[in-house]
Amino acid sequence: MDEVPWHLACVRCAETYSGLDLRYRCDCSGTLDVIHDLSRCELTREILDSRLSSKDPLDRSGVWRFRELILPLADDKLQEIAAARGEGSTNLYDASTIGLEVGVEDLWLKHEGENPTGSFKDRGMTVGITLAKLLEMNAVACASTGNTSASMASYAAISGMDAIIFIPEGKIAFGKLSQALAYGAKTIQIEGDFDDAMALVQEICDSEGIYLLNSINPFRIEGQKAIGFEIMQDLDWQVPDWIALPGGNLGNNTAIAKGLLELHEVGIIDSLPRIAVVQAAGANPLYTAWTKGVDIEPVKADTIATAIKIGNPVSWRKSMRGITALDGVVTEVTDEQILDAKALIDAAGIGAEPASCATVAGIRRLVQEGVIGPQERVVGMLTGNLLKDPDIVVNYHMGELEGIESHRANAPVSAPADIDEIRRIIRQ
Ligand code: F0G
Repeated sequence: MDEVPWHLACVRCAETYSGLDLRYRCDCSGTLDVIHDLSRCELTREILDSRLSSKDPLDRSGVWRFRELILPLADDKLQEIAAARGEGSTNLYDASTIGLEVGVEDLWLKHEGENPTGSFKDRGMTVGITLAKLLEMNAVACASTGNTSASMASYAAISGMDAIIFIPEGKIAFGKLSQALAYGAKTIQIEGDFDDAMALVQEICDSEGIYLLNSINPFRIEGQKAIGFEIMQDLDWQVPDWIALPGGNLGNNTAIAKGLLELHEVGIIDSLPRIAVVQAAGANPLYTAWTKGVDIEPVKADTIATAIKIGNPVSWRKSMRGITALDGVVTEVTDEQILDAKALIDAAGIGAEPASCATVAGIRRLVQEGVIGPQERVVGMLTGNLLKDPDIVVNYHMGELEGIESHRANAPVSAPADIDEIRRIIRQ
């Protein structure tokens, strides 16, 4: 394959490269965007809505349903090559009861933990692995706080590729480590943090001819755009006032902004939402840079929300561009606020992993500060499944997390195998 209808462009100096050039950075070291010729896009709301009742696996995928805006190859080529496994099509929950607690009535939660491997990463990975197939790569690699690696390991396995993952030793949730091992990835535990792992994997991929599947890979971003597309379709194309989501390596907010700007440009939505990116206070380089109006300064990250424990995010420049374009804001929340929000989301029967719950903690803060109005429609993104990190759940409810007050603890009650004693406990 040599001619494709998209090309790559540098975020920093605007230099362009061909669409299948095997590179993640410009010669000037800036990161790259995938640029589509949107004037050729004939997609409409009607076409997209008709695909909701189709039996074609591409239409049934919540990513490939939007293929003309993601990887516009001919359908028969995509049918042959797309590494699809039913990603996306996640629930958008009416969360008005949670909204009442945080101060907005019209709150919705898009649950990306309902993807095949339990996080939003599957949306980027289906496209990333498809590119790896298109480029005839045999092996893929990533550094990860756990979800990217779980997703990559699965999509590589279904595509018959070798997967090599770099994770910070002892610092990822057990559910995620289990997935990487179970799906058969070569798992290298680095004595260091995510940022060390990220630096190493880039070098290894360059020297060993392995395809890099972190979100610095611009095709990961293309797949993740579909979350924003799907939220709009879920809401019958009525654009909400806000989309709020957690920020770690900053690929996801980059993707949401890029996608919605493109959806607007092709006329499928009439206006744009604002975006709120929420960081953990112990891993807040974007928050600091945004509030001071300066470039990112790396920090040593520390938060209980291990998924977003990242001090040197690779996509910060693209991320800031998207936040500016969507008139967005960046905020930060403490670990205790994250876990209180988590207990609220979990007890509503929805449930999500800690990093995801930064979203709701951030919405609460922005409402208190008067940035988000109480009447505005807000869609929060829950990025990962509750079962990714069961240790935190149990320790929270047992009141055993150091430095955290468990305001919503629901500790188990021990009882003898005695019917009267159990009756007494239930009636209490
Ligand atoms: N939420 C969850 C559950 C995540 O796993 C991540 C990132 C984020 C939010 C932040 O998204 O990096 O695009 O800003 N996890 C990556 C990983 C870093 O390796 O799984 P981001």
